[in-house]
Amino acid sequence: MANYTISVIHGDGIGQEVGVEGVRVMQAIGEKFGHTFTFPEYLAGGAALDAHGVPLPDDTLKGVKDSHALLFGAIGGPKWEKVAHHLKPEAGLLKLRKELGAFANLRPAVVFDELLDASTLKPEVLRGTDIMVLRELTGGIYFGTPRGIDGEGPQRRGYNTEVYHVYEIERIAKMAFEIARGRRKKVCSVDKANVLESSQLWRDTVIGVAKAFPDVALSHMYVDNAAMQLIRDPKQFDVIVTGNIFGDILSDESSQLTGSIGMLASASVGGPVGFFEPIHGSAPDIAGQQKANPLAMIGSAALLLRYGLKLEAEAIAIEAAIRAVLKDGKRTGDIKQAGLPVLTTRQMADAVLGHLRAK
Ligand code: IPM
Ligand code: MG
Repeated sequence: MANYTISVIHGDGIGQEVGVEGVRVMQAIGEKFGHTFTFPEYLAGGAALDAHGVPLPDDTLKGVKDSHALLFGAIGGPKWEKVAHHLKPEAGLLKLRKELGAFANLRPAVVFDELLDASTLKPEVLRGTDIMVLRELTGGIYFGTPRGIDGEGPQRRGYNTEVYHVYEIERIAKMAFEIARGRRKKVCSVDKANVLESSQLWRDTVIGVAKAFPDVALSHMYVDNAAMQLIRDPKQFDVIVTGNIFGDILSDESSQLTGSIGMLASASVGGPVGFFEPIHGSAPDIAGQQKANPLAMIGSAALLLRYGLKLEAEAIAIEAAIRAVLKDGKRTGDIKQAGLPVLTTRQMADAVLGHLRAK
């Protein structure tokens, strides 16, 4: 039993409506397990741009740093596509990751038997898939310098820099091996070492870190092959560890194994305050219509409890409730199935709450 301050950033688009459900589920967990959660709310992304002219206001950053963990919805939308690069909602999210020192992004992709038919891939390829994509989150081409656009006419050029330091690779590799120890003890490191020097250093460094983990099997894969293997035979993977941009791409790809990006939660950890967000974006096309699947958000609340607050039983309770509602045939539009009604965001969350309160 304890008191926790959980900062909440709903953000833009469907971030609002799924965020509210994430908070309701955490409140139910508080009642069930005797914790007191308080949920101060802060602005970020487009909502913050509209209100304060910046995508990450100082008081948001301060509030988040003063909390035990951050529950984050989604940011961005067509309304802000034309604003200057450094003011884009996405720039706010990247700054938040960097400021929080959240260098490790865990994106579990678990295929539930109940949703085998929701994916475009064949059920026999998918059944039993359980992958942890571990994405480096505060380095690589997202943050490397030099970067920019300059020059004139046909000589005008845009450029970015993919750069990794040994210390950045070591800490994410170490985390990959530690996570694998709690799973099936396999790490696949994904890079492009046949072309990129940064990837060569990545591979050499991962091999060095592996020496301290002789009980974990390490393999390496080029990113193009990994993209293919993920849909050819996803069950071969346990933990995938990779850099920022490869992880961005491969985690979206993995989400399709589960049937819908609306199912995937994530945890961004490594600094003093972890933050937890669905991997889907703000989906402006369906925002405000109660069509969004709240399970990625609710799953993110489970990860917050597990990794942010070290409350494993509480995390398991949420994950069990998610499985139970899927078993009960509860479906939102993104995972709809013939013969089953399509629920609203609220109805799906209510179903989860029903299971949490029942036991
Ligand atoms: C993600 C998103 C972000 C990223 C965007 C919104 C900046 O795609 O979290 O995967 O590229 O990291
Ligand atoms: Mg992405």
